[in-house]
Amino acid sequence: MARQRAQPRIYVALDAANEGRVRELLAALDPSLCGIKIGKEAFTALGPRAVEWARERGFPVFLDLKFHDIPNTVAQACRAAADLDVALVNVHASGGRRMLEAAREAIGASEDAPALIAVTVLTSMEDADLAEIGVADGAEAQVGRLARLTAETGLDGVVCSAREAASMRVLFPAETGLVVTPGVRPAGSARDDQRRVVTPADALANGATSLVIGRPITAAADPGKALEAIVAAL
Ligand code: C5P
Repeated sequence: MARQRAQPRIYVALDAANEGRVRELLAALDPSLCGIKIGKEAFTALGPRAVEWARERGFPVFLDLKFHDIPNTVAQACRAAADLDVALVNVHASGGRRMLEAAREAIGASEDAPALIAVTVLTSMEDADLAEIGVADGAEAQVGRLARLTAETGLDGVVCSAREAASMRVLFPAETGLVVTPGVRPAGSARDDQRRVVTPADALANGATSLVIGRPITAAADPGKALEAIVAAL
Protein backbone atom coordinates (compact mmCIF):
# COMPACT_ATOMS: atom_id res chain seq x y z
CA MET A 1 0.00 0.00 0.00
CA ALA A 2 1.34 3.40 -0.96
CA ARG A 3 1.73 6.36 1.33
CA GLN A 4 -0.66 8.69 -0.36
CA ARG A 5 -2.13 12.12 0.13
CA ALA A 6 -4.81 12.67 2.73
CA GLN A 7 -8.27 12.32 1.24
CA PRO A 8 -11.25 14.62 1.88
CA ARG A 9 -14.24 13.04 3.63
CA ILE A 10 -16.55 14.23 0.85
CA TYR A 11 -16.01 14.35 -2.91
CA VAL A 12 -18.72 16.34 -4.68
CA ALA A 13 -19.54 14.70 -8.03
CA LEU A 14 -19.38 17.48 -10.60
CA ASP A 15 -21.46 15.79 -13.27
CA ALA A 16 -21.81 18.62 -15.81
CA ALA A 17 -20.69 19.13 -19.39
CA ASN A 18 -20.82 22.90 -19.47
CA GLU A 19 -17.96 25.22 -18.51
CA GLY A 20 -20.21 27.88 -17.00
CA ARG A 21 -21.98 25.37 -14.78
CA VAL A 22 -18.74 23.74 -13.65
CA ARG A 23 -17.17 27.09 -12.75
CA GLU A 24 -20.33 28.21 -10.98
CA LEU A 25 -20.35 25.07 -8.80
CA LEU A 26 -16.63 25.37 -8.07
CA ALA A 27 -17.16 28.97 -6.95
CA ALA A 28 -20.07 27.97 -4.70
CA LEU A 29 -18.23 25.22 -2.79
CA ASP A 30 -15.65 25.60 -0.01
CA PRO A 31 -12.41 23.71 -0.79
CA SER A 32 -11.77 23.20 2.92
CA LEU A 33 -14.94 21.06 3.11
CA CYS A 34 -14.69 18.77 0.08
CA GLY A 35 -12.86 17.50 -2.95
CA ILE A 36 -14.29 17.39 -6.47
CA LYS A 37 -15.00 14.24 -8.47
CA ILE A 38 -14.61 14.72 -12.20
CA GLY A 39 -16.02 11.84 -14.19
CA LYS A 40 -16.45 10.83 -17.79
CA GLU A 41 -19.13 13.41 -18.60
CA ALA A 42 -17.21 16.50 -17.52
CA PHE A 43 -13.84 15.16 -18.66
CA THR A 44 -15.06 14.16 -22.11
CA ALA A 45 -16.79 17.49 -22.67
CA LEU A 46 -14.25 19.82 -21.09
CA GLY A 47 -10.97 17.90 -20.89
CA PRO A 48 -8.15 18.37 -18.39
CA ARG A 49 -9.16 22.04 -18.03
CA ALA A 50 -11.95 20.89 -15.71
CA VAL A 51 -9.31 19.38 -13.41
CA GLU A 52 -7.22 22.55 -13.62
CA TRP A 53 -10.16 24.80 -12.67
CA ALA A 54 -10.80 22.69 -9.58
CA ARG A 55 -7.09 22.58 -8.65
CA GLU A 56 -6.79 26.38 -9.07
CA ARG A 57 -9.57 26.81 -6.51
CA GLY A 58 -7.69 24.51 -4.13
CA PHE A 59 -9.84 21.38 -4.36
CA PRO A 60 -8.35 17.88 -4.21
CA VAL A 61 -9.60 16.08 -7.35
CA PHE A 62 -10.81 12.50 -7.79
CA LEU A 63 -10.42 11.72 -11.50
CA ASP A 64 -13.12 9.08 -11.93
CA LEU A 65 -12.33 7.72 -15.40
CA LYS A 66 -12.35 4.02 -14.42
CA PHE A 67 -9.49 3.01 -16.70
CA HIS A 68 -9.87 -0.48 -18.22
CA ASP A 69 -7.53 -1.41 -21.06
CA ILE A 70 -4.32 -3.33 -21.76
CA PRO A 71 -1.69 -2.86 -19.04
CA ASN A 72 0.56 -0.51 -21.01
CA THR A 73 -2.30 1.81 -21.98
CA VAL A 74 -3.65 1.95 -18.44
CA ALA A 75 -0.16 2.64 -17.08
CA GLN A 76 0.27 5.58 -19.47
CA ALA A 77 -3.19 6.91 -18.62
CA CYS A 78 -2.35 6.70 -14.90
CA ARG A 79 0.86 8.65 -15.50
CA ALA A 80 -1.08 11.31 -17.38
CA ALA A 81 -3.55 11.51 -14.48
CA ALA A 82 -0.74 11.87 -11.95
CA ASP A 83 0.66 14.72 -14.07
CA LEU A 84 -2.67 16.52 -13.61
CA ASP A 85 -1.91 16.61 -9.87
CA VAL A 86 -5.07 14.76 -8.88
CA ALA A 87 -5.50 13.17 -5.44
CA LEU A 88 -7.33 10.01 -6.48
CA VAL A 89 -7.50 7.87 -9.64
CA ASN A 90 -9.45 4.70 -10.38
CA VAL A 91 -9.39 1.66 -12.65
CA HIS A 92 -11.64 -1.38 -13.18
CA ALA A 93 -10.39 -4.35 -11.17
CA SER A 94 -11.77 -6.62 -13.90
CA GLY A 95 -8.84 -5.47 -16.07
CA GLY A 96 -6.94 -8.20 -14.23
CA ARG A 97 -3.77 -8.67 -12.24
CA ARG A 98 -1.26 -7.46 -14.82
CA MET A 99 -3.27 -4.34 -15.54
CA LEU A 100 -3.59 -3.54 -11.82
CA GLU A 101 0.13 -4.10 -11.26
CA ALA A 102 0.99 -1.85 -14.21
CA ALA A 103 -1.30 0.88 -12.85
CA ARG A 104 0.25 0.58 -9.38
CA GLU A 105 3.77 0.84 -10.76
CA ALA A 106 2.92 3.80 -13.00
CA ILE A 107 1.31 5.80 -10.20
CA GLY A 108 4.21 5.09 -7.84
CA ALA A 109 4.17 5.26 -4.10
CA SER A 110 5.56 8.68 -3.30
CA GLU A 111 3.76 10.93 -0.84
CA ASP A 112 2.51 13.27 -3.55
CA ALA A 113 1.34 10.48 -5.87
CA PRO A 114 -2.42 10.13 -6.28
CA ALA A 115 -4.07 7.30 -4.40
CA LEU A 116 -5.16 4.46 -6.68
CA ILE A 117 -8.42 2.59 -6.17
CA ALA A 118 -10.49 0.10 -8.16
CA VAL A 119 -14.11 -0.44 -9.07
CA THR A 120 -15.06 -4.09 -8.51
CA VAL A 121 -18.52 -4.67 -10.02
CA LEU A 122 -20.58 -1.69 -11.22
CA THR A 123 -23.55 -1.33 -8.89
CA SER A 124 -25.78 -1.20 -11.96
CA MET A 125 -24.99 -4.90 -12.61
CA GLU A 126 -27.25 -7.55 -11.11
CA ASP A 127 -26.64 -11.29 -10.90
CA ALA A 128 -28.50 -11.84 -14.18
CA ASP A 129 -26.32 -9.28 -16.00
CA LEU A 130 -23.20 -10.98 -14.68
CA ALA A 131 -24.48 -14.44 -15.68
CA GLU A 132 -24.90 -13.14 -19.22
CA ILE A 133 -21.22 -12.20 -19.37
CA GLY A 134 -20.03 -15.49 -17.91
CA VAL A 135 -19.91 -14.75 -14.18
CA ALA A 136 -22.13 -17.52 -12.85
CA ASP A 137 -21.80 -17.13 -9.10
CA GLY A 138 -23.29 -13.68 -8.65
CA ALA A 139 -22.28 -10.14 -7.73
CA GLU A 140 -21.26 -10.77 -4.13
CA ALA A 141 -18.74 -13.46 -5.04
CA GLN A 142 -17.38 -11.38 -7.90
CA VAL A 143 -17.02 -8.26 -5.71
CA GLY A 144 -15.10 -10.35 -3.14
CA ARG A 145 -12.81 -11.86 -5.76
CA LEU A 146 -12.00 -8.53 -7.39
CA ALA A 147 -11.54 -6.73 -4.07
CA ARG A 148 -9.01 -9.39 -2.96
CA LEU A 149 -7.15 -9.01 -6.26
CA THR A 150 -7.14 -5.23 -5.77
CA ALA A 151 -5.61 -5.65 -2.31
CA GLU A 152 -3.08 -8.27 -3.48
CA THR A 153 -1.82 -6.01 -6.25
CA GLY A 154 -1.18 -3.22 -3.75
CA LEU A 155 -3.86 -0.73 -4.67
CA ASP A 156 -5.05 1.65 -1.96
CA GLY A 157 -8.72 0.74 -1.87
CA VAL A 158 -12.01 0.37 -3.69
CA VAL A 159 -15.11 2.22 -4.79
CA CYS A 160 -18.15 0.41 -3.43
CA SER A 161 -21.64 0.78 -2.06
CA ALA A 162 -21.75 1.90 1.58
CA ARG A 163 -23.49 -1.40 2.31
CA GLU A 164 -20.34 -3.28 1.32
CA ALA A 165 -18.02 -0.85 3.12
CA ALA A 166 -17.56 -2.88 6.30
CA SER A 167 -16.35 -5.99 4.47
CA MET A 168 -14.05 -3.87 2.30
CA ARG A 169 -12.43 -2.30 5.38
CA VAL A 170 -11.11 -5.72 6.30
CA LEU A 171 -9.11 -5.79 3.07
CA PHE A 172 -8.13 -2.12 3.20
CA PRO A 173 -7.64 -1.35 6.88
CA ALA A 174 -7.60 1.84 8.86
CA GLU A 175 -4.50 3.97 8.33
CA THR A 176 -4.13 4.08 4.57
CA GLY A 177 -6.98 1.97 3.19
CA LEU A 178 -9.61 3.79 1.16
CA VAL A 179 -13.26 2.82 0.86
CA VAL A 180 -15.00 5.37 -1.33
CA THR A 181 -18.78 5.17 -1.47
CA PRO A 182 -21.36 6.79 -3.78
CA GLY A 183 -25.12 6.33 -3.36
CA VAL A 184 -25.14 8.62 -0.34
CA ARG A 185 -28.23 10.67 0.50
CA PRO A 186 -28.76 12.95 3.51
CA ALA A 187 -31.90 11.97 5.45
CA GLY A 188 -34.96 13.44 3.77
CA SER A 189 -33.38 14.30 0.40
CA ALA A 190 -34.48 12.91 -2.99
CA ARG A 191 -33.10 9.50 -3.94
CA ASP A 192 -33.00 10.47 -7.66
CA ASP A 193 -32.11 7.32 -9.61
CA GLN A 194 -30.14 5.82 -6.71
CA ARG A 195 -31.89 2.83 -5.17
CA ARG A 196 -30.05 1.52 -2.14
CA VAL A 197 -29.09 4.76 -0.45
CA VAL A 198 -27.32 5.31 2.86
CA THR A 199 -27.01 8.53 4.89
CA PRO A 200 -23.56 10.17 5.12
CA ALA A 201 -23.22 9.39 8.84
CA ASP A 202 -24.20 5.73 8.33
CA ALA A 203 -21.78 5.36 5.41
CA LEU A 204 -18.91 6.60 7.61
CA ALA A 205 -20.05 4.38 10.48
CA ASN A 206 -20.00 1.39 8.07
CA GLY A 207 -16.35 2.07 7.31
CA ALA A 208 -16.42 4.42 4.30
CA THR A 209 -13.41 6.74 4.28
CA SER A 210 -14.69 9.19 1.62
CA LEU A 211 -18.24 9.79 0.40
CA VAL A 212 -19.16 10.72 -3.17
CA ILE A 213 -22.19 13.01 -3.20
CA GLY A 214 -23.59 14.62 -6.32
CA ARG A 215 -27.13 15.88 -6.79
CA PRO A 216 -28.01 16.49 -3.11
CA ILE A 217 -25.36 19.24 -3.36
CA THR A 218 -25.14 20.19 -7.04
CA ALA A 219 -28.92 20.36 -7.62
CA ALA A 220 -29.61 22.30 -4.41
CA ALA A 221 -30.72 25.92 -4.69
CA ASP A 222 -27.59 26.83 -2.69
CA PRO A 223 -24.92 24.14 -3.21
CA GLY A 224 -22.52 25.77 -0.73
CA LYS A 225 -25.13 25.66 2.05
CA ALA A 226 -26.16 22.10 1.16
CA LEU A 227 -22.52 21.00 1.54
CA GLU A 228 -22.18 22.84 4.86
CA ALA A 229 -25.34 21.19 6.17
CA ILE A 230 -24.06 17.72 5.27
CA VAL A 231 -20.70 18.39 6.92
CA ALA A 232 -22.42 19.76 10.02
CA ALA A 233 -24.55 16.61 10.30
CA LEU A 234 -21.54 14.26 10.29
O1 C5P B 1 -25.85 12.61 -7.85
P1 C5P B 1 -25.34 11.39 -7.12
O2 C5P B 1 -25.03 11.63 -5.66
O3 C5P B 1 -26.23 10.20 -7.35
O4 C5P B 1 -23.95 11.12 -7.85
C1 C5P B 1 -23.19 10.02 -7.52
C2 C5P B 1 -21.95 9.96 -8.36
O5 C5P B 1 -21.30 8.72 -8.10
C3 C5P B 1 -22.20 9.99 -9.87
O6 C5P B 1 -21.07 10.65 -10.45
C4 C5P B 1 -22.24 8.54 -10.24
O7 C5P B 1 -21.83 8.30 -11.55
C5 C5P B 1 -21.23 7.95 -9.27
N1 C5P B 1 -21.41 6.52 -8.95
C6 C5P B 1 -22.58 6.01 -8.42
N2 C5P B 1 -22.68 4.68 -8.13
C7 C5P B 1 -21.66 3.89 -8.37
C8 C5P B 1 -20.47 4.38 -8.89
C9 C5P B 1 -20.38 5.73 -9.19
O8 C5P B 1 -23.52 6.73 -8.20
N3 C5P B 1 -21.77 2.62 -8.04
